[in-house]
Amino acid sequence: MQVLNLKLKDFRNYKTLNLDFAPGINLIYGLNGQGKTNIVEALYFFAVAKSHRVLKDKDLIMYDKNFASLELDFLNNDRQFNAKINLFNDKNREIFVNDIKASKNSELIGRFNAVLFSPEDFCIIKDGPGERRRFTDIAISQVKPNYFLKLTEYNKVLKMKNKVLKEGISYAGMIDIYNEKLAEIAADIIFYRNKFYEFIKPVAQEFHRQIALSLDKFDIVYESCVKINDRKKMKEDIYNKLQDLQLKELDERFCIFGTHREDVSFYINGKKVKEFASQGQQRTVILTLKLAQAEYMKEITGEYPVLLLDDILSELDATRRKYFLSEIKNKQVIITATDKGSFGRRKDTKLIQINDGKVI
Ligand SMILES: Nc1ncnc2c1ncn2[C@@H]1O[C@H](COP(=O)(O)OP(=O)(O)OP(=O)(O)O)[C@@H](O)[C@H]1O
Ligand SMILES: [Mg+2]
Repeated sequence: MQVLNLKLKDFRNYKTLNLDFAPGINLIYGLNGQGKTNIVEALYFFAVAKSHRVLKDKDLIMYDKNFASLELDFLNNDRQFNAKINLFNDKNREIFVNDIKASKNSELIGRFNAVLFSPEDFCIIKDGPGERRRFTDIAISQVKPNYFLKLTEYNKVLKMKNKVLKEGISYAGMIDIYNEKLAEIAADIIFYRNKFYEFIKPVAQEFHRQIALSLDKFDIVYESCVKINDRKKMKEDIYNKLQDLQLKELDERFCIFGTHREDVSFYINGKKVKEFASQGQQRTVILTLKLAQAEYMKEITGEYPVLLLDDILSELDATRRKYFLSEIKNKQVIITATDKGSFGRRKDTKLIQINDGKVI
């Protein structure tokens, strides 16, 4: 996967931008608040069809404008693609892939694959299960379009069921139908999540060994809502559990069981990272997870994703930075930093200086 060119118009603090990227390391540098993360945000938008910072498209449009556009040229398995996104203040976004209008976000997701490393990633460890599910869902959705469709469908049915539960209509027949549907989709979702964690666990353990430079044992435990592996039995089991919970759910007024309540836990030497790990140990776990995610994506698509490192390197000590840079050799990486640092001396780096929404 390789980004060739990014064009922006009235996106955040960019009036216009037309930026070429090199195949290897691209360093975007500049003072605070100049627009470095805005570029990363724009690139990542093409991977996941949303901003990693805000929920509303409106917030991405330059202040006092009604419209923003983003355009990306990239290579996917040596085939060149063009994608365009138009964002509006007052209507839904438009997406084009190779000039053909997409009717849904799902037609964009999966074309351009990227893994983002950002300071906000600490929330994967520190925050609630929702953040960990988001990490999982983004990783799988980018390379398994069917998974994204299942998730969307699950959330739709869940919303309908929650509406019925909230209104307190004890019409059991309807809940039965929702439970049947939820159980069926949940079994598919768990199947994908299982595979994802089976793959990344040993890979992450190896990365962790190298980054942590210790014999600490890193472990990942996917806490699925069912403990069976057979898909048909899984569906039955989820359905039965949901049916058993009907009265309780009518009482609590929302659906309390299913894949929307799953979690994953990380351990070092048998102790939960969330509860005891230092900042540095948490950072190591996050790097480990993201590198493993990139390997998973490569395993599925045959191509290594583009790595977007927003403000990450400055946080690492010299040994870890060196390891990280050797690991990402021969891959396309887009890095942001406040100064050139040691990259200024490297011949393999494209330097991009940003000042007030402009490339200098
Ligand atoms: N919708 C918008 N319209 C115009 N400008 C905006 C908009 N949203 C954000 N900005 C401006 O973009 C700038 C922030 O850009 P960005 O987050 O990319 O900075 P940065 O270079 O990554 O800074 P740091 O080094 O602090 O992370 C701010 O000056 C902010 O005012
Ligand atoms: Mg920034």
